[in-house]
Amino acid sequence: GQPPFFDMFMREHTYLRISLTEKCNFRCMFLKLVLNLLNLPFSGLYCMPAEGVPLKPKDKMLTNEEVLKLVKLFASHGIDKIRLTGGEPTIRKDIVQIRKDISEGIASTPGIKDVGITTNGLVLPRFLKDLKNAGLTKINISIDSLERQKFAKMTRRDGFDKVWKSIELARSYFPKVKLNVVVIRRQNENEIVDFVNLTRDRNLDVRFIEFMPFGGNVFTNDQFFGYREMLNLIVKKFRGDVIRLSDSPNDTTKAYKIEGYQGQFGFITSMTDHFCNTCNRLRITADGNLKVCIHGNSEVSLHDKIRGGDTDEQLSEIIQKAVNNKKARHAGMDALKNLPNRPMILIGG
Ligand code: GTP
Ligand code: 5AD
Ligand code: SF4
Repeated sequence: GQPPFFDMFMREHTYLRISLTEKCNFRCMFLKLVLNLLNLPFSGLYCMPAEGVPLKPKDKMLTNEEVLKLVKLFASHGIDKIRLTGGEPTIRKDIVQIRKDISEGIASTPGIKDVGITTNGLVLPRFLKDLKNAGLTKINISIDSLERQKFAKMTRRDGFDKVWKSIELARSYFPKVKLNVVVIRRQNENEIVDFVNLTRDRNLDVRFIEFMPFGGNVFTNDQFFGYREMLNLIVKKFRGDVIRLSDSPNDTTKAYKIEGYQGQFGFITSMTDHFCNTCNRLRITADGNLKVCIHGNSEVSLHDKIRGGDTDEQLSEIIQKAVNNKKARHAGMDALKNLPNRPMILIGG
C-alpha cells in the first residue's frame, strides 16, 4: 500500500465521504430569509439556500468510473471507510449502476471495511435490499421531526410516512440504524424526549446534531440549541437512568443511553465542543473537489486532474498537499457564520 494521509497534526485520514449528487428530493426551506429576520418560527433553511442551487452541467459531476478510481486510490492510502452522501444520494440517476459499483467496486476494494450511506429515506425502500446485498454496511437516516405536519413543513414534502417506513425497513436489514436529528430552537427541541423514547424498543441510535452555519444557510444564534441544553432536557425526564457510554475512536458523537433501553442516543457537538482533534475525515464533492474540512473553504479539484490525465502518483501528491494544509480545528461558530463556504447540500455533510 501507499503511505497513509497524515496531516500536520498527526491525524490519520481513514474515512472518505463521497457526495454522489448535488440534487435533493426535499426542499428544506420553508420560509424566506425575511421571515427569519423578523424572528418568526419555522425559519430554518439549514441545508439549501432559499434560492436553491444552480444546476451544474452533467459533465462537471464525477462519473461512476471516476468515483471508483478515487475509492481505489484512497484505499491504497489506508482509507477503510466510505460514506456516500449528497444532496440525496439515492436520487443519483444511475443509482442502479451505483449498486453494481458498490458490490463490484467500492465494497470489494481491498482495505474497505465499511460502506455507509446518509439519506433522507424518502425513496429508500426501492433500493435498500439491493444496496444491502451490494455490500452496504451502515445506514444513517435524517429525520428532524416525528410530527407529520411539522415534518412536511420542514422538508416541503409530505414524506413522513415514507421516511418512517424506510427506517423500519432499514432496522430489519441492519443491526443498528442511526437517525440524524438537527435540533433547531422553536422548531423541534420539544421533540427531543420523543426521539429518545424511540430507542426504548428499537435498534436505533438517535443523534442530535447541533445546528451549523454553512454557505447560504440562515443561521442565527437564537436558533442554535447546544448539546448541554439538549442533555439537560433528557436528564430532567430520565434522571439517573441516563448513562454515558464510551465513544468509538474518531466518532463524531458523544454516546448515551437510557438504562434498559435497546437503542442509544448521542450528540454531535460540532459547535460547542468540536471533535476536530480526532478528525479522520476527508470529503469529495459531487463535482470532484477534495475538501479536507467541512468547515474550511479550501478545495482542490481532483476531477480536473483526473480528466487532465494525472497519474495516481500525481493525484496522491495533490491529495497529500491538501491534507498538509488542513487546519487543526474549525474557526468556531461565530467566525463560521461569516466564512464563505459551500451550502451543505453541495458538501454532503
Ligand atoms: P458514522 O459514520 O455513522 O459515524 O456517521 P457520521 O456522523 O460520520 O456521518 P453522518 O453523515 O451521519 O453525519 C452526521 C452529522 O455529523 C452531519 O450533520 C454531519 O455534517 C456531521 N459531521 C460528519 N462529519 C463531520 C465532521 O468531520 N465535522 C463536523 N463538524 N461535522 C461532521
Ligand atoms: N447543521 C447541522 N447538520 C446539518 N445537516 C444538514 N445541514 C445541517 C446544518 N446546517 C445534516 C443533515 C444530515 C447530515 C448529512 O447533515 O440533517 O443528516
Ligand atoms: Fe474535521 Fe473540519 Fe469537522 Fe473539525 S470541522 S471535525 S477538522 S472536518
